[in-house]
Amino acid sequence: MKVAHKVLVGLAVGLLGIQLIPYGRNHTNPPVLAEPAWDSPRTREIFFRACADCHSNQTVWPWYSHIAPISWLIERDVLEGRAKFNVSEWTSVGGEGGEDAAETVQEGSMPPWLYTLTHPRARLSGAEKQAFIRGLMTTFGGEGSTADSEGRGEPEEQEEEHHKEGD
Ligand code: HEC
Repeated sequence: MKVAHKVLVGLAVGLLGIQLIPYGRNHTNPPVLAEPAWDSPRTREIFFRACADCHSNQTVWPWYSHIAPISWLIERDVLEGRAKFNVSEWTSVGGEGGEDAAETVQEGSMPPWLYTLTHPRARLSGAEKQAFIRGLMTTFGGEGSTADSEGRGEPEEQEEEHHKEGD
């Protein structure tokens, strides 16, 4: 057998072998206990498009999430994401992490770019992003919050102009 063949066979056997490792196969969605008081259905809709796979108990597990080693990465992301911020466990003991949500979207750290490659629905247009950031601030509070007494009313367009992504 040529070396290249040996390498290929070795890889194939290795890939089959790691499928037996139990980690990454337990794709559970624990019960939804309570959700935050969303400021609007739109905020919730965008959240479920761009964030909920890792920050709720309503994860949609794609087919490749069952195949090692991708499954390990995905399981880790979901478990870590849920541990930090989980909108399905918004109970008096569980609900936290939201105060950083608007900031992560503003900075562009969330949703993770790798996720947006495989989930085009999570790519937000500029306008969606601005509306979402405002919605997150109104719902969860947090840094740079403009959710003051005027709060839930109409978005202020001028304000938005100044904060347009300069990054
Ligand atoms: C692919 C999975 C995934 C998606 C999708 C995702 N996150 Fe995360 N998120 C994580 C992981 C993993 C962590 C914990 C590690 C870290 O902070 O990077 C995290 C951390 C966070 C935190 C806590 C950060 C901190 O500094 O404490 C917030 C807030 C957050 N995400 C908000 C969001 C929002 C809002 C969205 C949607 C726009 C989103 N995430 C989409 C995986 C994800």
